Amino acid sequence: MTTISNCTATAIKGAAATLIKGDLVAFPTETVYGLGADATNKEAVGRIYEVKGRPVGHPVIIHISSISNLDKWARDIPEYAFKLARTFWPGPMTLILPRTDIAKNFITGGQDNVGIRVPSHIVALDLLKKFESLGGLGVAAPSANRFGAVSPTTATAVEIELADYLSENDQILDGGACLVGVESTIINCTQDHPLILRPGAITKEMIEDTLRIFIDLNNSNSESIQIKAAGLIESHYAPKAKVFLTGLPTLGDGFIALDSFATPTGAVRVAAPKTNEEYAQVLYEAFRLADNKGLSRIFVIPATGGGIAVAINDRLVKSAFSK
Ligand code: TXA
Ligand code: MG
Repeated sequence: MTTISNCTATAIKGAAATLIKGDLVAFPTETVYGLGADATNKEAVGRIYEVKGRPVGHPVIIHISSISNLDKWARDIPEYAFKLARTFWPGPMTLILPRTDIAKNFITGGQDNVGIRVPSHIVALDLLKKFESLGGLGVAAPSANRFGAVSPTTATAVEIELADYLSENDQILDGGACLVGVESTIINCTQDHPLILRPGAITKEMIEDTLRIFIDLNNSNSESIQIKAAGLIESHYAPKAKVFLTGLPTLGDGFIALDSFATPTGAVRVAAPKTNEEYAQVLYEAFRLADNKGLSRIFVIPATGGGIAVAINDRLVKSAFSK
């Protein structure tokens, strides 16, 4: 495995060729780092599962460079999905749509729908454009972490997670720290109305404003949708330390809260973000820092309000779920 820290046009072209050959490329997106493979190559996608230690049958998101490539992967696209795509792509949003024949069972987990996203990170977009110019149709990329662990938001975090599992020809592109910090908003667009399956930086309020409809977040788990989303498993996004969302830390426990909360005596402050946006951005690195310090417990004061706070608290609840 090689990490490329100077992502020149030539280096990105090389990474696109690496994907075409069937090897893996971990790359930055605005949300978290993804572990990419040619989405039409069964063996390459199979390696993603091996490297992540992910159970087979979980679907992966396809990354494309532009909305104009959407109809290669998806069909019967509702007008509201086009509107969302036109408004929020490139950006931190994944649409679940009925699949075309190009999206095989090894991508969709055997379901008739496929998750698609156009990321906005310049390295990701450039990689996708160069990959497509070499004949590629899309890059399958789950978050570049071992299954159930915290998503990486830096190239170093990818190395620490996956170096032992990647092969000689695989690459990691270093594009700096991710700006959003939590995974994309996933919206099920296979029904008459959109349904948020995973909250993210494209918030319920933004979707409501765009489509001029009301979205009931409580619906997402109660719907009888046959959609399997790994992120919907209760314990996920979890550091090695045990996460507590209530109670107060004692001597040597980690502590994460907005900057306006003072650090309780004896606690080890691992993040003090000033805004909810910054909270999302630093949360996973704070978890990693606590693990690096060997802390066994992290006490967290969740975010408040709507918007991205919903995504932060969704990840916090999952990270705190007892394993
Ligand atoms: O921000 C993101 O979405 C990042 C970056 C790398 O793009 N990717 C990401 O992928 O978070 P992953 O695989 O770690 O999480 C994607 C989630 C999983 O829970 C997966 O099960 C779900 O999306 N998913 C993917 N395709 C799906 C589909 N066809 N139907 C339902 N859920 C799907
Ligand atoms: Mg993930």
